[in-house]
Amino acid sequence: MKVVLNKIMKALNLSKITEEINHQKCIIGSKIHYHDVLESTMAEAKNLARCNCEEGTVVIAERQTSGRGRLDRNWISPEGGIWMSIILYPDLIPDEIPLITLSAGTAVCTVIEQLYQVYPGLKWPNDVILNGKKICGILTEGSIGRTGLDYAILGIGLNLNFDSTHLPVELKGYASTVISETGILFNTEEVLKCLLLELDKTYNCFISERKKIISLWESYSITLGQNVSAFFDNHTITGIATRITEKGSLIILAENSGKEVEVNSGVVSIRPKI
Ligand code: BTN
Repeated sequence: MKVVLNKIMKALNLSKITEEINHQKCIIGSKIHYHDVLESTMAEAKNLARCNCEEGTVVIAERQTSGRGRLDRNWISPEGGIWMSIILYPDLIPDEIPLITLSAGTAVCTVIEQLYQVYPGLKWPNDVILNGKKICGILTEGSIGRTGLDYAILGIGLNLNFDSTHLPVELKGYASTVISETGILFNTEEVLKCLLLELDKTYNCFISERKKIISLWESYSITLGQNVSAFFDNHTITGIATRITEKGSLIILAENSGKEVEVNSGVVSIRPKI
């Protein structure tokens, strides 16, 4: 399906969104810095964090020229997506940063499901998957100082209203956009508002009740129970993905040793059933 790129973000009524967010006394989205174009919202958010901006400040761009994904990959970010980074000062130890990614993934799924009855799933650690293809990626980066975590930047890239042909050919079959998968033109303003409200809910929830967020993540998981292979620390583990720890790591029951292995970074692929 061909979709014309929309200048949807231009029409965003950001003051309406912040009004609603401030009315609900939320942290996330209480300030929104909107840009037509940025190299990456991550870099801009880092500059703001270094100046001790308010927690929950959002940097959003209509398009990015050097969007970044995990493991230093490029993130293609044309108009029509939601590209944003959020500055957080969570009371977490650096090892717990993955929890931010997991909680954001549940927020993305909840919003898409509630607004449009479209049902994505979560692949550990940071992918939102629809029809077997990645439609959203989440990148959380922390700055670690002498006393622990100074700040964390939560980046979300949601491939919403642009045609999947704008994605690199090598991602064909692996990544797509919500409109290409569903044929539905999502209301970007509505999705953004609901996403910020939901992110605020899940953020507060995992700070106080992290078990709840982990079980919510598990309920959306397409990773658990699957035969997976994980490449991390320069080696590959294969086995069954069994659970998520309190710090957000993935536990794999390794097929060669029968032992549980904790994976907290790297690349995990789901192995096709033979
Ligand atoms: C991934 O799946 O590898 C994570 C992708 C994260 C992309 C978002 S888009 C907004 C923010 N700015 C960036 O440059 N990256 C994140």
